[in-house]
Amino acid sequence: MLAKTPPMGWNSWNTFGPDVNEKVIRDTADAFVEKGLKDAGYEYIVIDDFWSLRDRDENGRLVPDPKKFPSGMKALADYVHSKGLKIGIYSCAGTRTCGDFPGSFGHEFVDAETFAEWEMDFLKYDYCFKPKTADGALLYNRMGMALKATGREMLFSACSWGADETEKWVRSAGAHMYRSTGDINDSFGSFKDIAASQIKMLNYSMPGCFNDPDMLICGMHGNGNVGNKGCTDAEYRMHFALWCMMQAPLIIGGDICSMDEYNLSLLKNKELIAINQDSEARPPMELSDSLYYPTLFKHLSGGEYAIALFNFTDILRSRRFDFFDIGLMVESGYGFILHDVFTGEESGPYFEYLDLPVNPHDCRVFRAKLIKK
Ligand code: GLA
Repeated sequence: MLAKTPPMGWNSWNTFGPDVNEKVIRDTADAFVEKGLKDAGYEYIVIDDFWSLRDRDENGRLVPDPKKFPSGMKALADYVHSKGLKIGIYSCAGTRTCGDFPGSFGHEFVDAETFAEWEMDFLKYDYCFKPKTADGALLYNRMGMALKATGREMLFSACSWGADETEKWVRSAGAHMYRSTGDINDSFGSFKDIAASQIKMLNYSMPGCFNDPDMLICGMHGNGNVGNKGCTDAEYRMHFALWCMMQAPLIIGGDICSMDEYNLSLLKNKELIAINQDSEARPPMELSDSLYYPTLFKHLSGGEYAIALFNFTDILRSRRFDFFDIGLMVESGYGFILHDVFTGEESGPYFEYLDLPVNPHDCRVFRAKLIKK
């Protein structure tokens, strides 16, 4: 079964946009291994839009742009596979892709065959240029079946931006992850709004098909295709912690080859990744009264929990978390021992409540164990 836990990898769009090419993909595959991302669990390297020629060939097949991919897709897939990694490609449910290249509408089966011949392991499937009268669920289901018909196991990543109540039908169409929002850009406001829109939309996100609030911007620092104002390190930490707590697919969008040390080690944070990849994949409860400072509480396998306190405001806040809000009454005699996933520090036991300062635009994340007084 694919996507038992949220898929992990990298995608070319955030940084390279229209300038994706085979060198970028090879260099990223090399860097995945050298910089320890493969060992941390990242697996897929995905070529986004702008990889093909503007027209199909005389047999109706998609053609990789020979200037960008002179060795061809099969050779590139062989290279990525030789590193012990997997490779993905992009198409669209509409007549054209968002970048105005040929889409798969009406060509689903032949395109899936082409991707399988190239030994692709992943398809990101976008939603631009979809005829208004065509039903999204039908189109994704058709491609879901076309991928299966090839006999090759390919992860199916739907990119319909939450449109047409995606979450209600996309799992049935065979998708393994589904974009639930519009595109992210490299700014605090962008990931904050995306997180706020999805925090209460995670009950559809479970093994086999996960809610995808878009690719990570960690370490972009305002550069690249979706570069905007950039974020501080604390903001990137918040963004990554949110995606881990929300059990989002972890698809890196920054340039791995030039990634700074702080963000590289953030993306490899073993404890956050373990929370994200927890086998039970239980969506978190959201406990605060305001999305300006969400508190998330998540059951983990092995009898543990994760507690995350976020502060989206501009001032230092003391964040109080009353245990009765999760049903834990003081009379039970139980409290929590905490393990800080960033510092490794143990603290507690805490009974009845937690009251901890959280810096502006920052977060605190803990693994928690119940303990009896
Ligand atoms: C849409 C998608 C993006 C990216 C671009 C490519 O905007 O949401 O993630 O794939 O198309 O053109």
